[in-house]
Amino acid sequence: MAKRQDSLNLFDYYDLESPYATEFRRLLHNINGVEPEKQPKTILVTSAMLSEGKSTIVSFLAMTAARHKRRKTLLVDCDLRRPVIHRMFSLKREQGVVEVLTEGRKIKEVIKKTSEDMLDVITAGKHVNQPTEVFDSEAIHRMLEEVRFYYDLILVDCAPLLPVSDPMLLAGEMDGVLMVVKAGSTQREVVQRASLLLKNNNTKFLGVVLNNLTNVLPYYYHESYYGYEYKPRVKAKS
Ligand SMILES: Nc1ncnc2c1ncn2[C@@H]1O[C@H](COP(=O)(O)OP(=O)(O)OP(=O)(O)O)[C@@H](O)[C@H]1O
Ligand SMILES: [Mg+2]
Repeated sequence: MAKRQDSLNLFDYYDLESPYATEFRRLLHNINGVEPEKQPKTILVTSAMLSEGKSTIVSFLAMTAARHKRRKTLLVDCDLRRPVIHRMFSLKREQGVVEVLTEGRKIKEVIKKTSEDMLDVITAGKHVNQPTEVFDSEAIHRMLEEVRFYYDLILVDCAPLLPVSDPMLLAGEMDGVLMVVKAGSTQREVVQRASLLLKNNNTKFLGVVLNNLTNVLPYYYHESYYGYEYKPRVKAKS
């Protein structure tokens, strides 16, 4: 009997030849710039509000860096309120960021492999009642310092900027921050307020990724520049 596909695995959605894969390659290229010594190694992906596409974009970006650019990549789920990275890659949520930061578990013990040889993941870990307290510590700094030795690129998913303060605590520890904006939905003032927060925090703002969730941009942008969609590359077995 064929196995039921009961959890999403993003690898099934990733088509290297698709227009969105091209957009992610271009995005990585733009982030990196031309001078290798100035390339950001730790990047936080956030947004002003909820559900703008942070987790989706950071995951595809991680796969692109690993698969296409052959960079040794680590994806870390620091969204302790609405963690999904474990589901994206069909991994267990437990033993992750929380266990490292609050229980002193060794980083090497919580790193999870994926089916992509160049891509590893640290999942969010167990549920905590006060996520902000988890990040308000020296531990996150030490964690990032250590993973810098093992990886070429560390991408971090987190909560949105305006509702909670965790992203700001994390942003200060990163080489750069990318902001995802849901096109046609998030108001300009909201995006401006979020960027101002980053600016006041002396964060290196790398730019905005416009996520065309509902194809609201004019047709000539769609799939040719800003927009991307994803569809399963392989059909779920029944
Ligand atoms: N470009 C897209 N096309 C179609 N669906 C998308 C796209 N981007 C995101 N989605 C869907 O929108 C929903 C929200 O996306 P995602 O979880 O990545 O957002 P998020 O900003 O991480 O949300 P949260 O604030 O809950 O962490 C998901 O169901 C995701 O599959
Ligand atoms: Mg998310």
